[in-house]
Amino acid sequence: MFELDQAATLPVSNYASHLTPAPAPIPTYSPTPSVRLATPTDVPGIVLLVNEFARRGDLLPRSPQAIAQGIGNWFIAEIDGVIVGCVSLLRYTSGLVEVRSLAVSDSVQGQGIGKKLVQALIAEARQRQIPTLFALTRAVPFFLACGFTLTDKSHFPEKVWHDCQQCPLVNNCDETAVVLSLVERHGEHGLNL
Ligand SMILES: CC(C)(COP(=O)(O)OP(=O)(O)OC[C@H]1O[C@@H](n2cnc3c(N)ncnc32)[C@H](O)[C@@H]1OP(=O)(O)O)[C@@H](O)C(=O)NCCC(=O)NCCS
Repeated sequence: MFELDQAATLPVSNYASHLTPAPAPIPTYSPTPSVRLATPTDVPGIVLLVNEFARRGDLLPRSPQAIAQGIGNWFIAEIDGVIVGCVSLLRYTSGLVEVRSLAVSDSVQGQGIGKKLVQALIAEARQRQIPTLFALTRAVPFFLACGFTLTDKSHFPEKVWHDCQQCPLVNNCDETAVVLSLVERHGEHGLNL
């Protein structure tokens, strides 16, 4: 009885220590994509992603063999081990390198993953002392947001004669050329484009 009475007069703060602690807030799950150089085990995931966009006409298809051969030129973005984005570098000449096969899964577009991929590619290109990156694309606002500028397709004859001959739109191309210079030459592009 005495103990009960005593408990009844304890300050509120003392009661708190006898109560079950409040449940911790439920953590909100927001997966963070990681971007890294691809390895041979990534080939099947890259094939799935690229060829999904190729079916829609957004990208040219790439075979598993071609991807595997150039795997050191690919970056991927993954979430929980699932490849949700990819991009690759294709060297035409020492001075002219294309950004190609850029894709981000529909469900995670608009979250900065494409930009992270292109930033990783730019950092890699700088390390390799590549002076100029270009792309032929319909995603012009995206590339402008990544620092590229508009240029003329006629600057890229190797590209035109290589890939474009296989494209059904070869004579009605609706892509725009964009370029990014990675060398500082008094404001000029590496190739004087
Ligand atoms: C293009 C693509 C890769 C963009 O990927 P994403 O992850 O959705 O793009 P991000 O979220 O990283 O966007 C980066 C910037 O580009 C801008 N952007 C992206 N798509 C845009 C669009 N359609 N119109 C205007 N701005 C756009 C974003 O607003 C953002 O700008 P900010 O950095 O100033 O905020 C993606 O839409 C895609 O896979 N498209 C289909 C395949 C394709 O067309 N690939 C390009 C072939 S060259």
